[in-house]
Parts: sequence; C-alpha cells; structure tokens
Amino acid sequence: MSALIKAEGLSFSYSEQNHNILDNLNLEVDEGEILAILGLSGSGKSTLCYCLSGIIPHVYSGELSGEVKINGRLVKEMDMPLIATKLGIVFQNPETQLFFPMVESELAFGPENLCINRDEIKRRIDLTLDLLNLEDKRNENTGHLSGGQKQLIALASVLTLRPNILIFDEVMAQIDKKGKNAIKDIILELKKEGKTVIMVSHNLDNIDVADRIMALKNGRLMRFEGSL
Ligand SMILES: Nc1ncnc2c1ncn2[C@@H]1O[C@H](COP(=O)(O)OP(=O)(O)OP(=O)(O)O)[C@@H](O)[C@H]1O
Ligand SMILES: [Mg+2]
Repeated sequence: MSALIKAEGLSFSYSEQNHNILDNLNLEVDEGEILAILGLSGSGKSTLCYCLSGIIPHVYSGELSGEVKINGRLVKEMDMPLIATKLGIVFQNPETQLFFPMVESELAFGPENLCINRDEIKRRIDLTLDLLNLEDKRNENTGHLSGGQKQLIALASVLTLRPNILIFDEVMAQIDKKGKNAIKDIILELKKEGKTVIMVSHNLDNIDVADRIMALKNGRLMRFEGSL
C-alpha cells in the first residue's frame, strides 16, 4: 500500500533567506496512523506543517524543491479548497485561525465554503461541540475566550470540515490538563474512524497517543531516539 502522505526530497527556504529550513526531507505517513514529530523551537516544525498542508507554496512563498503528495497527488497542483476537503490544519496560534466574533459562525464557515447544506452543517456543529464539551460556548464571542478555549474552537472549526488527515501544530501548548486530555481523546477517536493525524510538538509530554515518533533535526526527519 502506498503512503497517504509522502514527502520526497523536500527542501524549503523562506524568501530572501538562503538557509534551508527543510533540507532534503523525506516522510511517509500511512492511513490511520498517528505520527508525532518532535523538534526544538525553530527547527522548522511549523514550516513542515505548512508544506504538508499546501500553505507553502499556495500562501507563503519561498524556495521550494522536492515533492509533497496526498493520495498520490501533488499538493502544489491542488488548490486550497480541494486540499481543505482532504486535510485540516490546526495552527500553533489559534488567533490565525479565528475570524468570526461568534463561535457558531466560526464553525459554520468552513463547511459553508464547501457548499454543504444547512442541515448537515448544523449536525456537524452539534456533534463537534458535543465531542469537545463546548456546547456552552456556542454563542460566545471568540474574542472573550481563553487561549486554550480558542485552541479548542480552532480545532472544532477544522473538525466540522471532516477531513481525513489532520495536522496539529503544537495544539496542546496553551491548553490546561483537562483540555489536553480532551484533545488526546479526540485524536484516539479520530484514529478509530480511520483518520490520519500528524501532531508536532517540542516536548514529549503530550504525545503518548502517537503510534510513531520522529525527530526533526537539521531540516530532516529521523527516528526519535529519546532526546532531541
Ligand atoms: N514567514 C517566515 N519568514 C522567514 N523566516 C521564517 C518565517 N517563519 C519561520 N521562519 C524561520 O524559519 C525557522 C523555522 O521556523 P518554524 O516556525 O518552522 O519552527 P518551529 O519548529 O515551528 O518553531 P516553534 O517551536 O518556535 O514553533 C526559524 O528560524 C524561523 O525564524
Ligand atoms: Mg512552530
């Protein structure tokens, strides 16, 4: 079986910098797998998430070489709305992800853009709020939520899109213990549904749900041997 996500010889440097953040990196992720990627601050974890999710090159530009494929298709040749039906990313900073004053509008936005009908959108929102224990936040102003709650709403806004692949960029960073456990439960639930999860982190604390751990060092991925 070929990998669901495959990066081959992936190198990237941001515009006007001649330093490769990713340097001939290879990665294969199978369907249904939970992969954790560990790396020190500044090692390029977020940059890798952007490459895997098409944000590089579709939104951020720079010097990119090598290939990223989802289901055998080149990410650089897919447009962002198409990618969004297959892959969802929860950003490290939830402020980047939240646009609407009200939680419910935030959760409806993605599926509305995909022209999903109103009843189905409502069903997805109900299920997602229930799953994340956020029912009481439905009519809240996102601006009034704590960092951890914003992170959960950002996660919810991706879950309502029902992608098969989820990328979590340090989503546990601002969240309290209860929220962390909720996210871990959700990750395991997603795995049961056959979804694929890539989670990046700078420490080992919250990645016990992973099937496999890799380390990002010097722009490449290697097997994690216990320290970074
Ligand atoms: N938009 C950008 N333009 C130029 N350089 C950038 C940009 N974003 C990140 N970098 C640089 O690329 C390198 C890798 O950054 P990246 O954010 O991918 O690392 P990270 O592992 O996610 O770090 P952290 O643990 O702090 O989140 C850093 O040196 C950073 O300064
Ligand atoms: Mg980062």
